[in-house]
Amino acid sequence: MHHFAYRDGALHAEDVPLAALAAEVGTPFYCYSTATLARHYDVLAEAVAPATICFAVKSNSSLAVIRTLAARGAGADVVSEGELRLALKAGVPANRIVFSGVGKTERELSFALVSGIRQINVESIPELEALDALARRMGRVAPVAVRVNPDVDAHTHEKISTGGAEHKFGIAAADALDVCRRAHAMAGIEFRGLAVHIGSQLTELAPFRAAFAKLRDMVLALRAAGVPVAHLDLGGGLGVPYMAHQEPPSPAAYADMVRETVGDLGCELTFEPGRMLVGNAGMLVAKVIYVKETAAKTFVVVDAAMNDLVRPAMYGAHHDILAVAPRAGAPKPVDVVGPICETGDTFDRGVVLPPLAPGDLVAFATAGAYGAVMASTYNGRPLVPEVLVNGEMRCVTRRRPSYDEMTALETLPNWL
Ligand code: LLP
Repeated sequence: MHHFAYRDGALHAEDVPLAALAAEVGTPFYCYSTATLARHYDVLAEAVAPATICFAVKSNSSLAVIRTLAARGAGADVVSEGELRLALKAGVPANRIVFSGVGKTERELSFALVSGIRQINVESIPELEALDALARRMGRVAPVAVRVNPDVDAHTHEKISTGGAEHKFGIAAADALDVCRRAHAMAGIEFRGLAVHIGSQLTELAPFRAAFAKLRDMVLALRAAGVPVAHLDLGGGLGVPYMAHQEPPSPAAYADMVRETVGDLGCELTFEPGRMLVGNAGMLVAKVIYVKETAAKTFVVVDAAMNDLVRPAMYGAHHDILAVAPRAGAPKPVDVVGPICETGDTFDRGVVLPPLAPGDLVAFATAGAYGAVMASTYNGRPLVPEVLVNGEMRCVTRRRPSYDEMTALETLPNWL
């Protein structure tokens, strides 16, 4: 459920016509809907209550988006010092921030300890040992969860599966009990519990169920061995519909499965959702530059490209493409492409769209997650603006940089 809809033949974000925003900020631009963010957060929070929902900042690191969620009670899941600083700057209380990732540096861990964050999810023995030593040197105690690799197939795209034995993430279940016992005994570590995250865009509950069941067995084994376990961080990963017929499990069904697997353990629960909070809350709006007919095809060339939204090029991902003001006339199959000099710069092939002409606007749906955050300036293209809508209100929360700003960090060597 989202708040992008046609009114009188024109696509709106809440009460604002996307065409009006295009006139105000130029194209391409990302547009986010406050009502959609709020709804997704509230539905999940209600389903899994009581729990701490730490928004995975990697999915959308706009300060305005983070703050919108934080204002409703969200914490943050961060994977770098940069994300930790963004979360703090957006107003997320440190005690609601968890830090994940296989390669946290000493500098990052030290900043996390100084900031007093809720929890560091440790992913290897070397990391645990380094963190223990660092915390003791700093005269602090690091709150830690051990991330378990449950060796479960998430049944999602291989590039975003993270819970298999062949993946770099977490500590194998067979070793994790021993690692937790060690963590519990370390002077620089406060052992809080276990964490797991098996992948992203999961469209079935079964892999979650298998992973959480393994976690449950581990909690019981740890307690039997005298190691108290008070917290479980169940990660993110619940998928969103990218096409009309897709129906990923509802937050309610997900919450029921959580209760069935770990509900009786008396643990405090944390979740790290990204995509399900922000995916449907954003669209990328672009303008048609040319319609190019060849012997083989009709190409609709738009002013957004793979540098602005890389998911189709990178994962073969599908984003529905909508005409912002559909013209009358017979729809026909077209390839929607960007201006970048690679064939991979193709958003969709053979997609059936209403007639389009230069100057018309199109919107790429479900672009709120892993859209703007994965953008680059490839081909000398400025990062696109981000606009947050709230009812009739709108704010350009990130403006388009000037070409001078794009080179502002560069220096020419004195021999040139
Ligand atoms: N927690 C951890 C430890 C993660 O690694 C991730 C995502 C999340 C939470 C949030 O997962 P979500 O709820 O959003 O599924 N760029 C890819 C997705 C990469 C996901 C990486 N980890 C894409 O565009 O599909």
